[in-house]
Amino acid sequence: MTKKSKDEFYSLVEDITNNQKFNKLNKEIHHGISRFDHSLRVAKWTYLVAKCLHMKKKEETTRAALLHDFYIDKDLEGQRGIKKLGTHPNMALQNSLEYYALNAMQQDIITKHMFPCTLNLPKYKETWLVSVIDKIVSTYEMLRFKASLYIGIYLLFMFEIIRLPR
Ligand SMILES: [Fe+2]
Ligand SMILES: [Fe+2]
Repeated sequence: MTKKSKDEFYSLVEDITNNQKFNKLNKEIHHGISRFDHSLRVAKWTYLVAKCLHMKKKEETTRAALLHDFYIDKDLEGQRGIKKLGTHPNMALQNSLEYYALNAMQQDIITKHMFPCTLNLPKYKETWLVSVIDKIVSTYEMLRFKASLYIGIYLLFMFEIIRLPR
C-alpha cells in the first residue's frame, strides 16, 4: 500500500478503528490473529481492489468490509462451530448499526459475507467482492497460522525442549 493509499484508507475508517467496542476485537482470536487485524486486512484489500476497479462505491464498500466481523465471542455466547458461522453476520450488523448508519448495500455486505456457508445470496457486486476477499484472506491467515504452529512444534522437538517419554 502506498503512503497516499494508506492515508486515504485510514481517514476513511478512523472513526471505526477508534471505536471503543470495535477495539475489543483486538482481544478476540480469529484465524490465529486478532479479529481486529483480520477485519483490517479484509478492509485494506477491499479498498485496494475497489480502487483498482474504479468502483464508484469504494468508500462505503471499504467501511462495510471493516465491519463484516464486528462481534465479540461474548455476543454469541453458547454458540460454536457451524452455528456461529451462520449467526455472526447478523450480530456484526446489529453491532454496526448501534454506531453507524448503513445503507442497504453495506448491510448486504455484512449479512451475506459468509455465502455460501449461509445460503444468503449476495445482492450487490460489492458484496461478492468482500465475500471473496474475506475467503482469500481467511485461507491465507489460517494456513500461515497452521504453518507457524507446525514449525514451532517441530522446533520444540528438534531442539529437545520437549522430549517424548522413552
Ligand atoms: Fe465472518
Ligand atoms: Fe472475516
